[in-house]
Amino acid sequence: MEVIICDTAETAGEIAAARVARECVGKAEPVLGFATGSSPLAIYAQLAEWVAEGKLDLSQAHGFALDEYVGMPKEHPESYWAVIDRTVTKPLRMNPDRVHVPDGRAEDLANAGAEYERKIKAAGGVDVQILGIGSNGHIGFNEPTSSLSSRTRIKTLTERTRLDNQRFFDSLDEVPTHCLTQGLGTILDAEVAILVASGDHKARAVADMIEGPVCAVCPGSVLQLHEHATVIVDEAAASELRFSEYYRHVYDRLPDWQRIGPANWD
Ligand code: GLP
Repeated sequence: MEVIICDTAETAGEIAAARVARECVGKAEPVLGFATGSSPLAIYAQLAEWVAEGKLDLSQAHGFALDEYVGMPKEHPESYWAVIDRTVTKPLRMNPDRVHVPDGRAEDLANAGAEYERKIKAAGGVDVQILGIGSNGHIGFNEPTSSLSSRTRIKTLTERTRLDNQRFFDSLDEVPTHCLTQGLGTILDAEVAILVASGDHKARAVADMIEGPVCAVCPGSVLQLHEHATVIVDEAAASELRFSEYYRHVYDRLPDWQRIGPANWD
C-alpha cells in the first residue's frame, strides 16, 4: 500500500484529485467510484475546478457511488443520491444518466445488490475508486466483521456509525438503520483505490487499516490486499502510524514522474 502524509487535508485532497484525474487521462469513458462523507469533498472540489477550466472532461465518464441508505427517498437532501448529485454529478458536469447510486428504495432489496454489480460490470468495472474511512474502520458502509469478499448487499449500521452520521440529520432517530453498500470484494475489484482521511479521530482506524492485520474487524485493512491502493492522510490522521518516517522517506525519494500532483497529472 502506498501511504502519503500531507501537511493539511487540503493538500491531501489535491494530490488525491490529481491521482484520480491521472486515471481518467486517455480513457474515452473512465469509470469512477465515489464515496460520500466529508473526506472526499476536497477531491471533488479540485476535480470540479479542472473541469471548469477545461483541463478535464468527465462528460463521458461513468460513476458509481459506494452506498445508499435503505428506505430514504432520493429527494431527501441527505440521501446519498442527493449528496452525490450535489457534490459530484453537477459540479463535475457528469451525465446524470451515467451516475449510479444503489437503490435503497428498490422493491426487491434482496436483489438490488446483484443488480448494482451487473451495472458496474456492464460499464467495464471501476477504474478508480475514491474512498474515505469511518472512525470504526468501515469503508463504504462495510461495518466491522463484514466479509472480506462481500458483494453489494444490505447491511445494518452500527450505533457508532449512526452517531457519526447524526450530524447530517436533526436527531439520531432520523438516521437510517440499514444501507445498501458495495461489498469489500466489490471495492477490491476497482483497478485503483485512493483513500483519503484527515483529523485525529481517524488516526486509530488509519493505523489499523495500514499497519494492523488484514481482518474483518477493520474492514479498511482489506486494502492491504489491493494491488494499487494509495492512502493519503493529513498529519493528524497519520499520528498513530508506526512507520510514518518510512512513508515520508519513500515519498521524498519518488522520481518526479511517479510523484503525481496538481501540477503534473495531465
Ligand atoms: C460514511 C460513508 C463512508 C465514509 C464515511 C466517513 O459512513 N458511507 O463512505 O467514508 O462515512 O465519512 P467522513 O469522511 O465524513 O468522515
